[in-house]
Amino acid sequence: MIFKSYYQWATLVLAATAAAQTTTSCNPLKKTCPADTGLNKYRLNTDFTSGSLGRWNTTAGTVTSTDLGAKFTISEQGDAPTIESEFYIFFGHVDVKMRAANGTGIISTWILESDDLDEIDWEQISTYDTEIQTNYFGKGNTTSYDRGTTVTVSTPGETFHTYSIDWTSERIEWLLDGEVVRTLEYADAVDGTNYPQTPMRIRIGIWAGGDPDNSAGTISWAGGETDYTESPFPMYVESVDIINYNPASAYKYTDKTGDYTSIKATNATTSTNLSSSNSSSIRASSKTSASARASSSLIASSSASASAAASSISFVSAAPGSYYTSIFTMAVGFLVAGLVQF
Ligand SMILES: *[C@@H]1O[C@H](CO)[C@@H](O)[C@H](O)[C@H]1NC(C)=O
Ligand SMILES: *[C@@H]1O[C@H](CO)[C@@H](O)[C@H](O)[C@H]1NC(C)=O
Ligand SMILES: *[C@@H]1O[C@H](CO)[C@@H](O)[C@H](O)[C@H]1NC(C)=O
Ligand SMILES: *[C@@H]1O[C@H](CO)[C@@H](O)[C@H](O)[C@H]1NC(C)=O
Ligand SMILES: *[C@@H]1O[C@H](CO)[C@@H](O)[C@H](O)[C@H]1NC(C)=O
Ligand SMILES: *[C@@H]1O[C@H](CO)[C@@H](O)[C@H](O)[C@H]1NC(C)=O
Repeated sequence: MIFKSYYQWATLVLAATAAAQTTTSCNPLKKTCPADTGLNKYRLNTDFTSGSLGRWNTTAGTVTSTDLGAKFTISEQGDAPTIESEFYIFFGHVDVKMRAANGTGIISTWILESDDLDEIDWEQISTYDTEIQTNYFGKGNTTSYDRGTTVTVSTPGETFHTYSIDWTSERIEWLLDGEVVRTLEYADAVDGTNYPQTPMRIRIGIWAGGDPDNSAGTISWAGGETDYTESPFPMYVESVDIINYNPASAYKYTDKTGDYTSIKATNATTSTNLSSSNSSSIRASSKTSASARASSSLIASSSASASAAASSISFVSAAPGSYYTSIFTMAVGFLVAGLVQF
């Protein structure tokens, strides 16, 4: 199916997946949702050269493990291979060592995204070999498009760089090869209202911003039309190192505020008999000041709610729709950014 523009494409995909979302995803700001499956350990490293994708699920296209790492390739119109972590983290540090795609108009991206559409992004446009962009969204708010910044990077399409996000309840840092290149303070995101602060899944993928069927604004933002005859356009992710500042097996929104203090983190023993589940509440920890601050405000759980959380764990499933929601969000944002450049 050929779409007239990226905007329409994203809208149609959104419409198409919206139906599926009634059973697979849920916005906790609008209704009561199942708990998110959490990463219940402090650290998880995935070596994508190992031949396995580990605890990552492919949500679109095909992603293979190669000697250079997980390979995401655009070979023809409509390709947008994507993976996402099976689990969520609640504040943390993520290092993604990757080499962006080549060609024209191909967007290599990795993001953190939550169920209520908080989002933290790294995006590389293949056309610009000395730049990468940072961005963020709070609760899906796209009413203003002044959140992005551009960071200088050398030959991202030829060199592996480590793109990191360090995310706490107080501030977000974007780091390039270990050096902080941007800091967003909680208060600077509309007094925290637009500050990303709910459990996030990690999502990595590529898409063609320069697809000839996209709008002129999107193609302009992407630096020109993608010529598929020059494909393949491969992106490689060598490894991802994740630290979860609040390890837990489940994260539950206890109200519809989307505030980090409303998130309850619990551990449940895995058992086929869910009534045997158990939990403990997070206690303030001195591990890091950030996690201590986040932890101390978390609500202690009761055994009743713990078993509720436990019973929901296995039913939390991926929502490809939210990936497109995010692409949609980015596309619309950059559509405007692109138009502004005219
Ligand atoms: C992009 O890289 C692939 C694989 O290295 C190569 O086959 C292709 O010709 C390159 N395309 C461009 C436009 O540089
Ligand atoms: C959305 O963000 C803009 C600033 O980027 C802000 O002015 C506006 O109040 C926000 N809207 C909501 C509903 O938070
Ligand atoms: C699960 O636990 C309940 C309550 O202890 C018990 O009655 C039931 O037999 C158990 N079921 C299984 C499959 O172990
Ligand atoms: C849950 O764990 C606590 C603390 O380890 C323990 O005291 C309690 O008996 C456990 N409850 C169940 C139902 O296993
Ligand atoms: C859950 O278990 C992990 C691993 O034992 C631990 O690090 C973490 O603090 C626990 N989280 C909660 C909410 O009890
Ligand atoms: C992700 O993959 C794992 C392991 O292959 C599978 O058990 C799980 O159901 C998948 N999750 C989703 C959301 O598809």
